[in-house]
Amino acid sequence: MHNGKTSITQFIIEEQRHIDSATGDFTSLLNDVVTSCKVISNLVNQGELVGVLGSAGSENVQGEEQKKMDIITNDVFLETNQWAGHLAAMASEEMDDIYHIPKQYPRGKYLLTFDPLDGSSNMDVNVSVGTIFSILRCKGDCQNPTAEDFLQAGTEQVCAGYALYGPSTMMVLTTGNGVNGFTLDQNIGEFALTHPNMTIPEDTREFAINASNSRFWEKPVQRYVDECLAGSTGARGEDFNMRWVASMVAEVHRILTRGGIFMYPIDEKMKAKGTEGKLRLLYEGNPMAFVVEQAGGACSTGRERVMEINPKELHQRVPVVLGSKNEVERVVSYHKEMDADAVA
Ligand code: AHG
Ligand code: MN
Ligand code: MN
Repeated sequence: MHNGKTSITQFIIEEQRHIDSATGDFTSLLNDVVTSCKVISNLVNQGELVGVLGSAGSENVQGEEQKKMDIITNDVFLETNQWAGHLAAMASEEMDDIYHIPKQYPRGKYLLTFDPLDGSSNMDVNVSVGTIFSILRCKGDCQNPTAEDFLQAGTEQVCAGYALYGPSTMMVLTTGNGVNGFTLDQNIGEFALTHPNMTIPEDTREFAINASNSRFWEKPVQRYVDECLAGSTGARGEDFNMRWVASMVAEVHRILTRGGIFMYPIDEKMKAKGTEGKLRLLYEGNPMAFVVEQAGGACSTGRERVMEINPKELHQRVPVVLGSKNEVERVVSYHKEMDADAVA
């Protein structure tokens, strides 16, 4: 690109050269995903100048209030990624069913899932938001895809990543060969490789959880957080710091930058409603798990590796504990201990 920096386009093309079977389809698809994120970045930056703040007055399939920007950003993804012939279908947080590629366009061999605007409650208060995406191969009939084609374990992902619309706009992605971060140069409209080979420190003294749910937590999570809060006077013998941005993208990015642990666990309130967690497996849990694991971190439900779950539903929810490996393993060990005690 310039100043010795590699552009995201160059980076993707060079990565693809190492894959024998690559036809250029994947490179082109990823370029379209990058373009979607540039368009969204521009909208997020302009905010109320272009009248995109506030509620849309509707609910998504999960009964959550949709912001105007949830719908606008979903449309940006559909429009930008539907025409090139690389996709068999798309699925998103904001659509009840899968999105079929319109008849006038060819259908391709990949599936795209996305959360077009993550942390959308932050939008109106001008705090960081993001986009999360995951690319899968369509293994069934690519001309007539169904929701079942999307029900693949996270280990099957070809590529995953996120865009973070913060003080600068960044894209962070993995194709299973480490994690790389790119910063958008607004002057020329291109992402430059600024954070090569991102890694998560194994240890951390910083945790993130929405503590307003604490009275509903299961015992292992309660124990872990109590020990963090007890700090140097408790079992851990060290002080911990706490953060909560309410945008998983921003939390994961912080963890990729300086380590940490993020939890949105299952709790008694969710169990009473028959849900498994807050975050969605196919377009939040799995892509973030892929990125975090590729950076040397871990991602678990507390009881199993998120990427090994066999999804049963498009909008399935999942408990998420992710970040610095040793802390995630500690939380998992507390679950093991307490589940064993409950059986005994
Ligand atoms: P979304 O805006 O796509 O619905 O996702 C919000 C998610 C996640 O990003 C964040 O960590 C969490 O929900 C925040 O939840 P609380 O409002 O319960 O803190
Ligand atoms: Mn989200
Ligand atoms: Mn969202």
